[in-house]
Amino acid sequence: MFKILLVLCLILSITTVYAEEIEIDLDLGEEINEVCAGCHGEYGQGGKNGEYPRLAGLPEAYIKAQIHLFKEEKRKNMPMRPYANDRELPDSDIPSLAAFLSQIKLTSTMPEFDESMSAYEKLLIAKKVFNIPKAEGDFELGKELYIDDCQLCHGKQGRGKEGSDTPPLAGQYTEYMTKQIQDFASGERWHEYAEDMFEDMEAEEIQAIMAYLSEMDD
Ligand code: HEC
Ligand code: HEC
Repeated sequence: MFKILLVLCLILSITTVYAEEIEIDLDLGEEINEVCAGCHGEYGQGGKNGEYPRLAGLPEAYIKAQIHLFKEEKRKNMPMRPYANDRELPDSDIPSLAAFLSQIKLTSTMPEFDESMSAYEKLLIAKKVFNIPKAEGDFELGKELYIDDCQLCHGKQGRGKEGSDTPPLAGQYTEYMTKQIQDFASGERWHEYAEDMFEDMEAEEIQAIMAYLSEMDD
């Protein structure tokens, strides 16, 4: 009898662990995000002109992967450290948090308001309008470089690709991406083919790609 109970307990605990792994709770995600919002914004819109990247709408798998990289300190960042660790952010919270952030939709232009909307409803909509300011740089050169070197993975419109976990670049802050490219070039952060792509890239060329991407956002 004891043995049967033991086996039953085991099966039960395995199924609950399994259920926890796949259960996505957007309300829980929203709740956890209150901590992240201090830097990344209530709607994952980022802040401080790109010191804190946009998280809204990034691919779910990408967000999960990056949080794990921060937790394992394979991607090193001081401000993220107190938040991305097992005590503050257990692995079981990550799927719900990533799902919540990934489904937030920001628009780049202000939509037409419906007459019947209250001032509060309008305010909520306005808060989700997010547009990257045009970056200086040689747009035509940026377009050429982007199409030759980046488009294959980051997508024609710079918005990633359906079903891919490669991050979009259009709609992300210029200053943040410029820093990431410096980190790729120095080996501080991993990027596929970084040695070939970023090491010898002139600042002018990076700026040109940024000029192109900042217009792709519109
Ligand atoms: C104190 C400020 C701060 C807080 C709070 C914070 N972050 Fe961050 N986060 C940053 C900074 C700074 C970066 C950019 C790191 C870099 O330059 O590589 C970042 C980067 C990220 C990225 C990578 C985005 C990308 O496009 O690659 C993810 C994902 C992320 N944070 C998730 C979170 C989550 C989830 C929380 C809450 C649990 C959180 N962060 C809380 C400062 C913060
Ligand atoms: C072979 C596919 C591939 C190509 C080509 C490529 N990328 Fe990426 N890029 C990725 C992947 C995958 C990531 C996510 C890396 C990770 O997991 O940390 C990424 C991440 C980035 C990021 C960081 C985004 C963020 O939110 O933190 C930037 C910026 C970036 N790439 C710029 C570029 C630029 C500019 C080019 C062209 C010069 C380029 N990439 C070409 C696959 C590619």
